[in-house]
Amino acid sequence: MTSTVLVLSGPNLNLLGERDPAIYGSATLADIEAAVGARAQGYGLVVEHHQSNHEGDLVDLVHSARDRCAAIIVNPGALTHYGWSLHDALATFDGPVVEVHLSNPAAREPWRHTSVVAPVAAGTIAGFGPDGYLHAVDAVARLLGVSG
Ligand code: DQA
Repeated sequence: MTSTVLVLSGPNLNLLGERDPAIYGSATLADIEAAVGARAQGYGLVVEHHQSNHEGDLVDLVHSARDRCAAIIVNPGALTHYGWSLHDALATFDGPVVEVHLSNPAAREPWRHTSVVAPVAAGTIAGFGPDGYLHAVDAVARLLGVSG
């Protein structure tokens, strides 16, 4: 059976490419989604992408992934730092969760130093720009035991 990986993008990530390019780079979310899809295909994984600016929508998407998706890659945007309902939703998901950030929040303002998602993630990849998403796909493949 083909495994599906849910890639979730939180608030403001729809503006990638225009938003603070010095911090987040010039790639758009569509560029990243295409690269993630290609990387995942190499592992025989199918990717489902969703972006929302609303915490409740992201919670619903995590619920919809339960018993359906094999893994979740999530960049929660600013919800990383205070989105406890997203934390709780991810805690109900049985498969691996990999947290990704384009920037390195630990090297930025103090309020970005805490992630409420990290405790329910298998690991976090931060600071490598769009490449971080490819590293996340590699990590998910490894965690699911599939090889390219
Ligand atoms: C981000 C980092 C967050 O602190 C910020 O609020 C974002 C993007 C990143 O990908 O670097 O929206 O998650």
